Amino acid sequence: MNEWTATGTEAGMYVMWDEKFATGVEIVDKQHRGLIHILNGLYKSIGEGRGDAALHGIFGELQRYADYHFDTEERLLKKHGVESRHQAEHVIRHVAYRRRIEALRARHDEGERLIPIQVLAFVCDWWLEHILTCDRVFESLAVTARGSEPGSGWEENS
Ligand SMILES: [Fe+2]
Repeated sequence: MNEWTATGTEAGMYVMWDEKFATGVEIVDKQHRGLIHILNGLYKSIGEGRGDAALHGIFGELQRYADYHFDTEERLLKKHGVESRHQAEHVIRHVAYRRRIEALRARHDEGERLIPIQVLAFVCDWWLEHILTCDRVFESLAVTARGSEPGSGWEENS
């Protein structure tokens, strides 16, 4: 558990949304909140003694959400002309995440008994680190967009 993961004492949540996670890009922040919701759902299941059962569905859910969210991020980076080097670095991180989840899923499918809270801790740490480092690129772009085109360019349909 690192400085970003919560203690689980707040209303039974593993991680709480914090304004420091915000990038200022509405659709990205909305999806990050959705991701936190999924993680807290797994935490709730673990708390209710259903962690092992929850693992059956969580990998697919994490993969589907990652496909959806990474597609949004990569599309925005491209659309707003982020330097190709930064785009490539971001995509590499996304690919690495997909591979990690795929590997965990394969171990689970092959019958290895994964510990749900460890899976949750790994996934949560990955996301929070990603949101607080790589995804800052959206913060700087949102500031630029606001400065030149107030209220435009970063809405859900952009
Ligand atoms: Fe990202």
